[in-house]
Amino acid sequence: MGIITRVNNLVRQYGFKAVFTKIVGQAFDRFYEWRTGIDTLSIRKLETLTVSSGSKELGNYYEGSRVMPLRCLIPIMRSMVAADSAFVDCGCGKGKVLLIAAECGVRQVCGVEFAHELCDIARANWQRVYRSDDQSHHCEIVCSDILQYDIRDNDSMFFLFNPFDPIVLKGLLERIFQSHRECPRKIVIAVAFLGSEYADVFLKFPAFVRKKDVIYWACSFTLFTVE
Ligand SMILES: C[S@@+](CC[C@H](N)C(=O)[O-])C[C@H]1O[C@@H](n2cnc3c(N)ncnc32)[C@H](O)[C@@H]1O
Repeated sequence: MGIITRVNNLVRQYGFKAVFTKIVGQAFDRFYEWRTGIDTLSIRKLETLTVSSGSKELGNYYEGSRVMPLRCLIPIMRSMVAADSAFVDCGCGKGKVLLIAAECGVRQVCGVEFAHELCDIARANWQRVYRSDDQSHHCEIVCSDILQYDIRDNDSMFFLFNPFDPIVLKGLLERIFQSHRECPRKIVIAVAFLGSEYADVFLKFPAFVRKKDVIYWACSFTLFTVE
């Protein structure tokens, strides 16, 4: 199918504004990649990657988030938690979300990723954009299954873009809930493109309140809080 037919079909399905916004948003991403010299746009299937902790069968493949929606979302997340809060991308892939979180003023960012090759790429991408002697931000890439990650007392912003099966999400929410019990604080969890299976898992945890549903640049995010 040609590009014009594809765009026509999308306009019929979603409307002109949504398709235009998506196309312009994608152009921003290409510009960002060109300006920074990194590649976060190409998809990586899990079959081709090395995973030594966690289950590949319960994980989803790598696809990067978009720059412009994140630039709108992250300041909202920051406004909902304490100023010294750290940001955790659960399944960080090539680390793009961490780069944008730092750009939005978050001083401490952490990416948890179980595929070794993606962790190496995420570290290289960070070094390329923020030099290693940069004191204004602290970035850590933890190469591990998300369920093995030790949640720190100031980890208060969690981001999820279609990383894993709802079974893993349930385990993660139990761990976040436990961390909140041990160290009460404001926590926000942003889920991109919340589907019904993920929504059902959140319903099992009444402490997680569905606070906001937002759409930025044709990408939808749902924000849950624990107070
Ligand atoms: C759709 S990508 C999202 C990447 C990144 N968060 C972003 O938004 O640009 C999902 C990522 O989660 C990782 N992943 C899947 N299951 C995981 C697990 N159990 N522990 C850690 N990472 C996991 C995958 O390897 C993949 O890189």
